[in-house]
Amino acid sequence: METEKIIDESVQGEALLMPSKIPNGKKLFLESYGCQMNFSDSEIVASILIDKGFTTTQNFEEADVIFVNTCAIRDNAENRVRQRLQDYKRVKRHNPDAVIGVLGCMAERLKSQFLEEEKLVDLVVGPDAYRDLPNLIEQAESGQKAINVILSKEETYADIAPLRLDKNGVSAFVSIMRGCDNMCSFCVVPFTRGRERSRDPESILKECRDAFEAGYREVTLLGQNVDSYLYSGGGLKKEKLTEEQKLASVNFAQLLDKVALVNPDLRVRFSTSHPKDMTDDVLEVMAKHENICNNIHLPVQSGSSKVLEMMNRGYTREWYLDRIAAIRHIIPGCGISTDIITGFCGETDEDQQLTLSLMQEVGYDFAFMFAYSERPKTLAERKYKDDVPEPVKMKRLQEVVALQRQLSEAATKKQVGYVHKVLIEGFSKKSEDMLMGRNSQNSVVVFPKLHYKKGDYVNVMVSSCTSSTLIGEVV
Ligand code: SAH
Ligand code: SF4
Ligand code: F3S
Repeated sequence: METEKIIDESVQGEALLMPSKIPNGKKLFLESYGCQMNFSDSEIVASILIDKGFTTTQNFEEADVIFVNTCAIRDNAENRVRQRLQDYKRVKRHNPDAVIGVLGCMAERLKSQFLEEEKLVDLVVGPDAYRDLPNLIEQAESGQKAINVILSKEETYADIAPLRLDKNGVSAFVSIMRGCDNMCSFCVVPFTRGRERSRDPESILKECRDAFEAGYREVTLLGQNVDSYLYSGGGLKKEKLTEEQKLASVNFAQLLDKVALVNPDLRVRFSTSHPKDMTDDVLEVMAKHENICNNIHLPVQSGSSKVLEMMNRGYTREWYLDRIAAIRHIIPGCGISTDIITGFCGETDEDQQLTLSLMQEVGYDFAFMFAYSERPKTLAERKYKDDVPEPVKMKRLQEVVALQRQLSEAATKKQVGYVHKVLIEGFSKKSEDMLMGRNSQNSVVVFPKLHYKKGDYVNVMVSSCTSSTLIGEVV
């Protein structure tokens, strides 16, 4: 099993070749690392630059502008970007005028330090400054180093229609909020993405409708903590709202309800839920609409209340298990996935046992698992000693991964023998005679192609499985 999939994997942002408005003759190469939010941001960046006349290329050797949208969540995520910059720098040999830019969370974290450390980088831009990119590129082209890392309290890019860069044309990311106010002690995100702000629900609904009309059949609503979504209009901060104004605003349960009504054939997913804020209201809206997928990503991080307290997560083991019980009660059969960190400051063998026993108790379908990586400026870095030795962190990570492998296999097996409604995403990895899609719980299902095509819904009778894939036939 992959321990670090979406979050850390060096997935290449595949920029499609698109005709630009009035071509400016310049080619953009854009590569993305990190979470779904970063991939969604890259679609905003592409949209802004295509509008200015850029075309896109998938070959950085021929690009005039090379951008890497970066992640700072763990040390290894940053190391990967630094390695990649070495490749880009080759381009300067045959095209000295090429502009190399670093965008996203690592740019925000390191700011001008990046320009000093990496001499061949021309441009550094944080996640809230993408509207400024055309100016910054001009500045860089004139030979000056260009930087904008100002974080905003309002920017949501609500009016910018993203240029979809996904591969399948079936599922789209829709960002509903930006930033995070939570200050989990291990986490760099509040520093790289700034204060939490929610996007106007009307612009979210419009983006979902547009996606449906363009052939998309699934939207994933994105935020670092979707449960704290609250749109009040007038740009007022959440903590400044009166009770009356709060009642007049749109919360996540209400937003979810509205998005579900866009079209019954548009599936709705969302990520990430936060255990301290996830309400029964949200679960009830999920239960009410068939097109909201029965799948919740509820990161636990640790099974020990002592560690959770030091992580500043705002809940205990008991609270978390109560939220799991609410999910099981209100949405029977709901898929549940999580994130786990091993080897956080002060974590003992007993704490590790508590994480393992919690995993058993919940029986997760899927998990992203990480060894703790200390991040500069975070609360944990300032307050606690990173005192679990690296080999112990890794040993605990392996235990967690091994247990999750068993749990995932058991969860997959449990789904055999039933009919699943599947949204087709394309060909299966192994053969063009087979199609693949996902069921509501987000499990991958493969089946013979017949006359079906991507974007169709089919009912598949699942008759067998591998460790993580369901296999069956359309009925
Ligand atoms: N907003 C989401 C998660 C964002 S980061 C949430 O609150 O759940 C995604 C995951 O990366 C986190 O859930 C956590 O498991 C992991 N992570 C974050 N900071 C980390 C660090 N310093 N070391 C190791 N893993 C970390
Ligand atoms: Fe980081 Fe916590 Fe915010 Fe998630 S909720 S982004 S882990 S600070
Ligand atoms: Fe990484 Fe930034 Fe996302 S640090 S996980 S790209 S919010």
